[in-house]
Amino acid sequence: MPMNTQNILVIYGSLRKQSSNKALARALSELATEKMKVEVTGLDSLPFYNQDLESNFPAVAKDFKSKIRAADGIIIVTPEYNRSVPGVLKNMLDWTSRPYGDSAWDGKPVGILGTSVGAIGAALAQYHLKQILNYLNTHVMGQPEFYLNATDKFDAEGKLTDESTKEHVKKFLAAFEAHVAKIT
Ligand SMILES: Cc1cc2nc3c(=O)[nH]c(=O)nc-3n(C[C@H](O)[C@H](O)[C@H](O)COP(=O)(O)O)c2cc1C
Repeated sequence: MPMNTQNILVIYGSLRKQSSNKALARALSELATEKMKVEVTGLDSLPFYNQDLESNFPAVAKDFKSKIRAADGIIIVTPEYNRSVPGVLKNMLDWTSRPYGDSAWDGKPVGILGTSVGAIGAALAQYHLKQILNYLNTHVMGQPEFYLNATDKFDAEGKLTDESTKEHVKKFLAAFEAHVAKIT
């Protein structure tokens, strides 16, 4: 393992088995830079956020907060639902930013990307997500942006097959490595 290893947590915001965002998250892991040690995680285990549960914080939500705290940088891969982020992703952000004053996100470097079947490739969901993460006092990488129409980019097993998208992913990861190094 090279010096200055960066622990990167990649979170994808879809519960769907054949999710294109999950497939993109896996591609990020496969194309990671030499410095990066990547863990990919979904959101299947989290219950609905309920403020009544904060006094007895669920272990799965606690574990998710610990994962975020332990990461040097977090990359979120978001689908677009009705021009915004899916509820499961917002639910995760609500859990991990609570209780008040004990958010796991404060000061974290974050990269955002996403893919959809639409022409603008989850752009509006990504912008809503940036707005939320700005409030949570993270350092969101501004460039390069990453919008992808998923059609014909992945094979039946969810492997990224499109060469130009692979190059785009590598550029995104190289920029994110530099972003994390600047902040941590
Ligand atoms: C409730 C719902 C709302 C959607 N809204 C949008 C949308 O606003 N923009 C868009 O490009 N695609 C939209 N889609 C289509 C998604 O891009 C498509 O289902 C995509 O595959 C979801 O990501 P996933 O493959 O990671 O599950 C929507 C899909 C669902 C189920």
